[in-house]
This record gives sequence, structure tokens and C-alpha cells, in this order.
Amino acid sequence: MFSSFVVFALCSSLAIAGPVPVNDAVDYSYIIKRQMEKRQDLGVVPGLPAALAGFVPVIANMGILPQIVKSMNAGYGKVADIPGALSKRIDMETRNPQFPNSKSVKIRYGPYKVPSASRRNLLGEAGTLFNWPELDVPKPCEGECVMLSMEADLEYADGSNANTSNGMWLHHMVLFNVGPNRFDPTCANKTSLPHLLISSSPDKAERVMASGNERTRTRFNSPYQPQTKLGYFLNPADKFALILDFMNEKTEDRVVYLTMTYDYINGRPEGFSNFRSIWLDVAQCGTSEVRAPVQSGKFNVSQMWTANLDAEILGGGGHLHDGGSHLTIEVDGKEICNSVALYSKSNGTGAMGGMGGMGGVAVGGKAIIEVEEDLAGMKLQKRDGPHLSGEHISAMSPCAGKTMGLSKVKKGQNWRITGFYDYDKYPGMMTGGKQSNVMGIALIMVKNWSV
Ligand SMILES: *[C@@H]1O[C@H](CO)[C@@H](O)[C@H](O)[C@H]1NC(C)=O
Ligand SMILES: *[C@@H]1O[C@H](CO)[C@@H](O)[C@H](O)[C@H]1NC(C)=O
Ligand SMILES: *[C@@H]1O[C@H](CO)[C@@H](O)[C@H](O)[C@H]1NC(C)=O
Ligand SMILES: *[C@@H]1O[C@H](CO)[C@@H](O)[C@H](O)[C@H]1NC(C)=O
Repeated sequence: MFSSFVVFALCSSLAIAGPVPVNDAVDYSYIIKRQMEKRQDLGVVPGLPAALAGFVPVIANMGILPQIVKSMNAGYGKVADIPGALSKRIDMETRNPQFPNSKSVKIRYGPYKVPSASRRNLLGEAGTLFNWPELDVPKPCEGECVMLSMEADLEYADGSNANTSNGMWLHHMVLFNVGPNRFDPTCANKTSLPHLLISSSPDKAERVMASGNERTRTRFNSPYQPQTKLGYFLNPADKFALILDFMNEKTEDRVVYLTMTYDYINGRPEGFSNFRSIWLDVAQCGTSEVRAPVQSGKFNVSQMWTANLDAEILGGGGHLHDGGSHLTIEVDGKEICNSVALYSKSNGTGAMGGMGGMGGVAVGGKAIIEVEEDLAGMKLQKRDGPHLSGEHISAMSPCAGKTMGLSKVKKGQNWRITGFYDYDKYPGMMTGGKQSNVMGIALIMVKNWSV
């Protein structure tokens, strides 16, 4: 009774707190940059603020977290179809002619109204459609089918591209698969904010892919075994859910569609194995970010996982931020992978540290934060800050074949990942004069998994 009152009160107060106009003369690009720094601070809340911790299961049980977030976006988000807009499902010529019977389709989700940059939400963020949840959206294929690859993009009603060149950012999106036997291996049985946001839990839903404005295609075939046919197997009862976060740099509200282009094969084509990846993270099930514990010298960040599935390992690799030297993976006390950061004076595109090209942005989901920093924080800072001529992580060495010391994931194994940093050797990224938050992530790609 008391709880539902609190929830009601919270909702009511949020409902009138949708994005509000700001009257001051503002430099919008500066605001967008500042709000990245704010998100960085939000990101490191270890778990949840104590005051909220007891409260979250209540709202989760009531399934109203999506409603609360929608209230924060009051007046924005999903709106009615625009007359004359392109079709919501556009079948295309296959993009994978090498696979018989493969198909490609573009699905247009939405449309979504994004506030103008002269409106701020509760968090003070300007021009932001904030983590809008969609609990059940169309899939590319029904029944049993296999997804080969996919990518996210943003478009206006007429199909033209909505991008940074015209002031619209795909800040991040996460695609979930909800259904029987679906689970996020490393978050199962834990509280996971992204899952709560789609009114689900890591025991019932898994993150399939995430993207930011780089809009890179996620491929499920492994770079470690290019001759092996791999795909993400969909089952008839699976449902798709989305979290969407867009930013608008223009001073008028704008309406966009999220598009997903999927490549798939109906049925269970012969010779294909079921692929998934396991996302190991030092800040698991939250936002992946850890506040740097020191301003100079060495430190490490670490996390354990008890394996809850059996699978064959294809390969893997780590992800660190600038300042990191290497990331190790140990299983039952034995090191099976040492992924080393490679620095170069190049353009500093290393934010994905070697994971981008290997389906890394795929499957797992904390990539939302990755992308957030990559696109908005890091690149802006890199462009503006003193770091421009310095060295950045341009890649992380992968572990596969001889350099991967384990062939199978087995239930009950104790996994540990540790990210090692040394600011004296490698300068870190700075935010507001201090070391920025860091990450320690490893992605393990597997096939033929079972629970
Ligand atoms: C979650 O916990 C329950 C009870 O301990 C266990 O039976 C189940 O296997 C766990 N689920 C996963 C996916 O680890
Ligand atoms: C959108 O912008 C991103 C980032 O600048 C770029 O990688 C991508 O190619 C652009 N997409 C289109 C269709 O122009
Ligand atoms: C990691 O850091 C902890 C202190 O936080 C330290 O006790 C430990 O020795 C470090 N581990 C390694 C392998 O250096
Ligand atoms: C940096 O990027 C520019 C433009 O994309 C390219 O011409 C140049 O070769 C890159 N430099 C390095 C060191 O990769």
C-alpha cells in the first residue's frame, strides 16, 4: 500500500517533468558535451543508490519502470505513423548471396519524437529521448530462423538518413531477445537495470546487440573460424524488445524511425551452429563503468563469474580504456587469455579496442556505454582536448587458437577477468581535470551452447 503510494507519487511527479524548455542562450554542442560528463557520473553508481535499492524490486515487480522512464520523456517518444511515410517492412535483395535462401529486410520502428536541443529532461540533458523502452517489436522472421547479421540506423519519414551531419545522433540502442530459455549468462540471477527497463530480468531475456552512432553491422560469424557457418538461432516464442536513446542538436523537435536491417535464413539451415557471446565485465549488469581509483600509477579492476552454460569457445578478447596495459582471463585459477593493449599515435579510434570488428558490439549489451563514451565523450574530448597528439589504444590482441588456453566453457567453472592499468606508462583520458571512468570487459565468443 505504502509502496504503491510512493510509486504513484513518483510517477505523478515525473509525469510533469518531461523535457522542459530552457530560455537561456545556449551553445547546444557544449551542452551535449557536458551531458556526457554527467552520464559518466551516473554510470559509476555502484549498483543503485541505497535509497533506491529497496525500491527497485517493488517497481520491477509492478513492471512499471518502463512507465516511469516514459514519463520522464513525457510528450516525446513513440508517436503516430506519419501519413505517406515509407513502409515499416522493406524486403531487400539478400546481402549474403553466398548463403542459399538467405534474405535481407529493413524494419522501420517507431516513429519517435525527439525533443529539440532547447529542452532539457529531469537529468538536465538537452535534446534527448532518454532510454525509451519498447517491450515487443516485430522480428525479421517468424518460427525457427537464423540471423546472420544486423545493423541499426536512423531515418526520417521519407527514408532519408538522420545523422550527425543533420544534427541527429543514434546515441545508443540495445536489442533484447525475451523468451523461454533466454538468459544473460553473466547477469542471470542479478539485478540488471537494462533488463528492468524492458520489464524483464536477465533470467528471461538476453541482449543480442547494441549500437551507437557508428552504426556498424554486427555479424554473428566468428573471425576466429571464418570457415564455420554461425548464426544466432531464433525460436518461435522469442520476442524482441528495444531500448532507444537519441539526441537532437537542432532547436526544433524532430521525428525519426529506428531502422534495423537484418540478414537471416528461415528454418534451421544445414551446417549452421548456434552462436552467442559471453560478456564478462568488471562492472557487470550496470553501465560497465568504474571510477578510476587513482590519478597516477598502477591499479587493477576485477570481477568473477561462475559459468552457467556449456559451450565451445571460438575466441575472445578484452577491452580497456586509455591507461590500460592488458586484461587477463583466468579459469579455475589458470590464465587462459592475456589480451594486450596496443597503443598508436593514430586517430584514436581505439575506443572499441579490438572488439568492434569481431561482432564485439554485438551480443552483450554494455556496449551501450562504450558507444556513449566513444561517440560523444571520447571523440569530442579527443577532438578538443590535449590528448589529440598522444597515444591511444588502437587495438587489443585477441585470444584464439594457440593464444586461447581453453576450448570449452563448462558449468561451474570459476572465471575471473582483471583489467590492468598504469597511468605512468599510458596517459588516461581526462574529464574535468581528472582521470575518466575506466572499463574492463572481455567478450568470449562461443558456439553449440547449451544450459
Ligand atoms: C539462478 O538461480 C537459480 C537458483 O539458485 C538456479 O537454479 C538457476 O540455474 C540460476 N540461473 C542461471 C541462469 O544461472
Ligand atoms: C552516420 O554517421 C556515422 C558517424 O559519423 C557514420 O559512420 C555513418 O556512415 C553515417 N551514415 C550515413 C548513412 O551517412
Ligand atoms: C590488484 O589490485 C589489488 C589491490 O586493489 C592488489 O592487492 C592485487 O595484488 C592486484 N593484483 C595484481 C595481480 O596485481
Ligand atoms: C587518420 O585519419 C585520416 C582521415 O581519415 C587518414 O587520412 C590518416 O591516414 C589517419 N592516420 C593514421 C595514422 O591512421
